Amino acid sequence: MKVFVTRNLPEKGIKILESKGIKLTIWKKKEHLSTPDLIEKLKGFDGLICVGPYKIDENFLSQVGHLNVISLLSVGFDNVDVDAAKKAQMPIGNTPGVLSKATADTAFLLMQMTARKAIYNYNRIVNSDWGFYDPTAYLGQDLEGKTLGVFGLGRIGMEMANRCKNAFGMKVIYHNRKKNEEAEKELGAKKVSFNKLLKDSDVLTLHAALTPATTGLFGTEQFELMKPTSILVNTARGAMVDEKALIQALKKKTIWGAGLDVTHPEPMDAKNPLLFMENVAVLPHIGSATEDTRNEMARLAAENILAGLKGEKLPYSIY
Ligand code: DGY
Repeated sequence: MKVFVTRNLPEKGIKILESKGIKLTIWKKKEHLSTPDLIEKLKGFDGLICVGPYKIDENFLSQVGHLNVISLLSVGFDNVDVDAAKKAQMPIGNTPGVLSKATADTAFLLMQMTARKAIYNYNRIVNSDWGFYDPTAYLGQDLEGKTLGVFGLGRIGMEMANRCKNAFGMKVIYHNRKKNEEAEKELGAKKVSFNKLLKDSDVLTLHAALTPATTGLFGTEQFELMKPTSILVNTARGAMVDEKALIQALKKKTIWGAGLDVTHPEPMDAKNPLLFMENVAVLPHIGSATEDTRNEMARLAAENILAGLKGEKLPYSIY
């Protein structure tokens, strides 16, 4: 059976699939395929491992009905129209769980990079501007004992909360649809309203899925409710934040700083003002980018493919 892969697949996934006699065709060019080109390429294939910006919507699905399975190499599936997938009876899998720790590590890193102006200070050295020791300059924020607000306390949010609680004794509040019993018991976390989350967080970290309800949810009105000393951390999806409003909030010091692993659009324009702000740290969507984590994601993606090709229920299905 033949599977098309839209980007390099980590070794573990390749080994699993090839050991089962699956023939892989991997798109290795730097440029993404256009959706019509991808649809054309998929002719004669039985499965797809999808990495990248492809919209899996009704139009796409109506043209790839010959596939047995689509396997995403991500936990997020905001690029998929789930109702259309159900209607088309297309099994679609994702990679939950295995990237929670690595992604939380990235959020934890960004929180500290932002709090201590790491990128700005690094650039002072690069720009021959180390200067003299000034006890009043380049001052950051302490994190010890501060309040962490988690928007979306699922697997990744829980890992982030654990790190913040253990390292800095941070108090954890969160906003979720459902109460997170485990977090309340183990971390003393408290569920609060959305506005209280905005008002009380010293660090507000986003870990929810991108949905119509969360798209553009963090804008001027929300930043105005936040503390002028607060830091926003986003390792979820860039489109949850209104970028123009964020730039204004940082310029006007409505909030103090931002650590972003995700932006909208991606890649971010190299001239984006966020890249030149003192209290901002931006990374190029590397949340899950460790060797072990990416190999585990590839394992789950391969297991989804194998099940889908046999017509079995996917072990990690999005619906
Ligand atoms: C995920 O797994 O959703 C990561 O953000 C990669 O897109």
